[in-house]
Formats: sequence, C-alpha cells, structure tokens
Amino acid sequence: MKDKSIIPTDRERVMRENDFIVSKTDLTGKITYANRIFQEFAGYTESELLGTQHNIVRHPDMPRAAFKLVWDTIKAKQEFFGFVKNMASDGSYYWVFTHITPSYNREGKVIGYLSVRRKPRVEAVNTITGLYQQMLSIEKRNSPNQGMDSSTKFLLDFLTEKGASYEELILALQG
Ligand SMILES: Cc1cc2nc3c(=O)[nH]c(=O)nc-3n(C[C@H](O)[C@H](O)[C@H](O)COP(=O)(O)O)c2cc1C
Repeated sequence: MKDKSIIPTDRERVMRENDFIVSKTDLTGKITYANRIFQEFAGYTESELLGTQHNIVRHPDMPRAAFKLVWDTIKAKQEFFGFVKNMASDGSYYWVFTHITPSYNREGKVIGYLSVRRKPRVEAVNTITGLYQQMLSIEKRNSPNQGMDSSTKFLLDFLTEKGASYEELILALQG
C-alpha cells in the first residue's frame, strides 16, 4: 500500500549514467517486476513493490494530465517517452527519462506494460520542471475535470508555440 503520509523532501537521488530502472506492470498498472535499481531508487524491497500500483512512487509535483497522456498513449498501443519526477519511500525525489511500451503475448494481445528509465539530461529536467509547475497550478485552481482539460490544453498550446509534437519535444530535450 502507498503510504500517503510520506512528506516530500528537497533531497534528490540522481541516476548514474549506466543505470536502468526497469519495471513491468499488468494492464491496471500493478507492478509485476521491479529490477534492483528500481528497488534502490524507490527505496522499497521487491516484495513491497510487487502487486502494488505504480503510483507508489508518484510525486505530488507531477501534474495529473501527464499521467493521462501516458495512459492514453499506451492504451492506444503506442510507445510513450517522457520525463517523470518520482518520490522514494523517504520522501526524496528522482527524475527519470522513461520509455513505456505495451507487452504482447503470442496471440498479439496486450498483457501488460514495460518501462525502462534512464538518467535525464539536466537541461531537459529544467524545462520540464517549469512546464509541470504551470500544469499543476492550473490543476489546483480548477475542479478535477476542468483542471485536467485546461492543463492538457496548456501543454498543447506550449507545443504549438514550439512548433513540435509532444514526442518531438521530448526527444529533442533528451538529445
Ligand atoms: C509501465 C508503467 C510504468 C509507470 N511508471 C510510473 C512511475 O515511474 N512513476 C509514476 O508516478 N507513475 C508511473 N506510472 C503511472 C501510474 O500507473 C499512475 O498512473 C500514476 O502514478 C498516477 O497515479 P494516480 O492516478 O493514482 O495519481 C507507470 C505506469 C505504467 C503502466
């Protein structure tokens, strides 16, 4: 179970160049696999992670619209790339550059999702931090539904201004 009482701190855990944080989930986002580096960064044991919803590492600084984009993308059987701020069990945070893809069985049916994360570029995190802060403040000012719509619109307007698709922006930032 996610401990809602964890207080976020300013302490950062920085991924090393050669780290890969890997996890797998079922169709509902429940963790079915967690590699050692994931256990290390999240600060949970394998048995604490397995069978638990992936929001166990959700950081309150993340806008809800960012996760809507994740789920809309992977449910449409597409791969997702993005930057996520996560929270460890001691309240510290760690930024990741994530790639999430559907996993298929032999019959071509989606049976779950796989996520592999690498160290993000510092410049990318700076840009995304500002973007997420603005999305989050829009969400906080509005009702949940209105907040999600307005926050998503803010992201789309940001992309229009940059003349890029979401994926183009993300891949350009990670270089
Ligand atoms: C394969 C996979 C990996 C995920 N990884 C993360 C993650 O590292 N951090 C995170 O906050 N959410 C992650 N999510 C999204 C969570 O399932 C969830 O949507 C998100 O934490 C928001 O939770 P909430 O809607 O309960 O607030 C992942 C989802 C999938 C399918």
